[in-house]
Amino acid sequence: AGKSTVSITVVGASGDLAKKKIFPALFALYYEDCLPEDLDVKFFLSKTYNDLLPSKWSDNLLLLLVSALYYLWENCSEKMEQFLNRCFYHSGQYDSQQNFVELDKKLKEHEAGRVANRLFYLSIPPNIFVDAVKCASLSASAANGWTRVIVEKPFGRDSESSAALTRALKQYLAEDQIFRIDHYLGKELVENLSVLRFSNLIFEPLWSRQYIRNVQLIFSEDFGTEGRGGYFDHYGIIRDIMQNHLLQILALFAMETPVSLDAEDIRNEKVKVLRSMKPLRIDDVVIGQYKSHTKGGVSYPGYTDDKTVPKDSLTPTFAAAALFIDNARWDGVPFLMKAGKALHNRRAEIRVQFRHVPGNLYNRNFGTDLDRATNELVIRVQPDEAIYLKINNKVPGLGMRLDRSNLNLLYKARYSKEIPDAYERLLLDAVEGERRLFIRSDELDAAWSLFTPVLKELEEKKIIPEYYPYGSRGPVGAHYLAARYNVKWGDIGVDE
Ligand code: BG6
Repeated sequence: AGKSTVSITVVGASGDLAKKKIFPALFALYYEDCLPEDLDVKFFLSKTYNDLLPSKWSDNLLLLLVSALYYLWENCSEKMEQFLNRCFYHSGQYDSQQNFVELDKKLKEHEAGRVANRLFYLSIPPNIFVDAVKCASLSASAANGWTRVIVEKPFGRDSESSAALTRALKQYLAEDQIFRIDHYLGKELVENLSVLRFSNLIFEPLWSRQYIRNVQLIFSEDFGTEGRGGYFDHYGIIRDIMQNHLLQILALFAMETPVSLDAEDIRNEKVKVLRSMKPLRIDDVVIGQYKSHTKGGVSYPGYTDDKTVPKDSLTPTFAAAALFIDNARWDGVPFLMKAGKALHNRRAEIRVQFRHVPGNLYNRNFGTDLDRATNELVIRVQPDEAIYLKINNKVPGLGMRLDRSNLNLLYKARYSKEIPDAYERLLLDAVEGERRLFIRSDELDAAWSLFTPVLKELEEKKIIPEYYPYGSRGPVGAHYLAARYNVKWGDIGVDE
């Protein structure tokens, strides 16, 4: 008694996201005792629509959970048992009021009259978001605590559909009940961006057009859309990665100093910088699509080989883009984005290329290629989290030979603790009501305004993507685009 409770209901518990990300994150938080001590947390797992799982799924639920988790955690059987004792299963239809009334009844039994808060995690396809929100809000809202709802992208597929979704959600929820996830904001190095900028004297003064020549935001995966073709084909890489993950990183990178670390102050600055940007122009984007490729006797499928993808699909699986921020700090500085699937490696990073040293005494040591001497700051979000700065250095010896070396902060060498998954941080924040890392609706609108015109144009004009082999470095068009702005991609070349 006295304790308040939180029930976390995962709606769509049989889905991929739940299995891969949400359950492991919930268990990790439980295992590490990260959930607030004064809370009695219960997990309600709700399968919401009749899909392909066996009808006795509820019995299999625990097995499923364990199998999702066991490979991540060793020697945790005791904690696992306690965790599972707090898990409950509820089956029903996502759009059935009756189902949510029953859920409400179960929740009430556990809440036993205490101050009871409810968090719903909607891990379901976008076409049933609104129905589920409606039912949850009308039939299963907390009576004497808060009710919050976590939603996942896609938040529409352009400005209009996104605005319509926001309007529909707001019929049932207030803005401060909606937690829109962009899981890149929960990544350690993305969160660290503000610390790096605002608490180190040596960075913030350099953070402008005066010293920075260009900024590159790079995302690549070494696997295709296998198994997700149906979803992906409706969205494409620009909506899947650029409009959200990369743009969010850009906003944090480029925003002005917020008044404080409060969620609203930070999000105000992010919206401001997004609204200072020009919408992406079609001339400033290059799109690609991967095709099949055989390497070392193994053959890798092309995008359209997926049965759920139309044979004549023009959906981009790769895109490169040049964006600009029209404000005093960033006028004229290209922000180059590159995102692709089925490339040669898996990586997400931010690369900041600084200007050349004016009147550099050592210019002749670099021959004609002054770019080789440029300082570059790299923030590697994944894998192998790291922050490193490329500097010019004298090679030890009697002569005067220079090379580029790294001042290197490699996380696994510096910190022994494992880095928590993005979903752990975001779930904990949602439980605690910390909104800093969630997307506000005006941010979402601003983000869509930048990409909607070009997305429409690409589709209307049926622009053909440049085809690139599975496992390659992607279309050469990306290099021409960068070259137009006098930029070389930093992830390609000798000192990669
Ligand atoms: C998701 C995209 O938002 O992010 C996927 O829909 C992508 O296409 C994934 O694979 C990448 O996330 P992470 O955390 O594995 O880099």
